Amino acid sequence: MYNINILYIGQVRDAQKKIIQLGYDLTLFSKRIDFATSEEFYEHDINTPYINVVLFSNNADAGEYAQVAKVLHMIRKFDAVICFNDHMQDIAIQISNQLCLPYSISKETLDKCFDKGKMRKALSLRDLNQIKFDIVKNDTELKKSLLTFKYPCIIKPTSSSGSKGVVKLASFHECEKYLNGFYSGLYPLIVEEYIQGKEYSVETVSNGGYHAILAITEKEIDLNTFVEIGHTIPAKITKNTFLKIKNNVSKYLKILGVENGPSHTEIKIHNEEVYIIETHTRVAGDNISKLIEIATGFNIYEICVEEALGKRIIECIPEFPVYKMSASIRYLYYNGETPAVITSLCYKNAFLPGIIEINMHKKSGDIIERLAKSKDRIGYVISKSVNSGQAKRTAYEACCRIEMDYI
Ligand SMILES: Nc1ncnc2c1ncn2[C@@H]1O[C@H](COP(=O)(O)OP(=O)(O)OP(=O)(O)O)[C@@H](O)[C@H]1O
Ligand SMILES: [Mg+2]
Repeated sequence: MYNINILYIGQVRDAQKKIIQLGYDLTLFSKRIDFATSEEFYEHDINTPYINVVLFSNNADAGEYAQVAKVLHMIRKFDAVICFNDHMQDIAIQISNQLCLPYSISKETLDKCFDKGKMRKALSLRDLNQIKFDIVKNDTELKKSLLTFKYPCIIKPTSSSGSKGVVKLASFHECEKYLNGFYSGLYPLIVEEYIQGKEYSVETVSNGGYHAILAITEKEIDLNTFVEIGHTIPAKITKNTFLKIKNNVSKYLKILGVENGPSHTEIKIHNEEVYIIETHTRVAGDNISKLIEIATGFNIYEICVEEALGKRIIECIPEFPVYKMSASIRYLYYNGETPAVITSLCYKNAFLPGIIEINMHKKSGDIIERLAKSKDRIGYVISKSVNSGQAKRTAYEACCRIEMDYI
């Protein structure tokens, strides 16, 4: 009997589980470093019924992946190539080209979405970039550029993630502490005018240039580091604001060349204007896919996989999201001046009514550091409720009840 055969690149375990649940065969290509990083993951990897698992050395290039894919494709044809990790998508594109299989985005689109400078330039060419920006390659250029900006302004690496290196400058004088080494290894940087307002993300799946919005997420950001510390679905916005978001995000995606597949677009809204922060051609991280499923009933991975197989199921997504529930995630983090070692971490008192998941990435004996990037976060709680305010409060209260001692 013929079974659909999927080549999956990267490590988004919820996506892999969904593919297997859908009854499809799955071959996994993974970078060694991403594969079995803890005992819990090892267990998962051993027990998951993959058809094949190929572990590539950490520095294998896209050509090596493509060659192995070609051999497996000769033995048994793949029906689709799927990838939800930013840093593996260029490999997925090259493999798809080699196997003559379609992939949701082109290399050109990936580059524009991955590089915040290219993204701003592309928007500027179509008069859709509303903010001043500049790209700088070294400290001298940075200092010179900062003289031309109004304050506050933002400095960030063009190709980074997890809020690493994102800095808000209140005045030109503050720039001294970010020169002489702070950004070494992180250039080129982009300097941007600071966009005021509340922050949201827009979770979409596209097909043939039509962009269906599954949900709009309200974000909570740590104001010092810009690390995301919470997300809630649905965002509290009016129908009018929703329409503005839909209109703007559709324009942005068109300019960036996103016609198919998932995207996660970060925006701010100020004085009823929608401003883009960045967009990614993948499903949102931070468990937002789980929040989408709780709130709307849609599993975004299922939609993306079925779309990649040519089934046009985004037509089932209503024009205006219909939310059955609200869901919220809140992250636990540490803000001490110096690194510390966890001596105990207990969350049994955090299971308040409405809490549906608690997951700690760290355990007793692990080192914790002051929050500076997403990876510094210690763990999270997920809640659900009939309204967003309550879901958010419950997740926050549960986080406060987590008992963590450290020295
Ligand atoms: N021009 C800007 N104006 C205001 N805030 C900004 C601007 N650029 C970035 N930020 C803030 O910094 C955060 C991180 O920026 P950005 O998303 O570009 O970096 P990142 O490293 O890709 O982060 P992540 O991977 O967490 O999304 C944004 O979510 C936003 O809160
Ligand atoms: Mg971002």
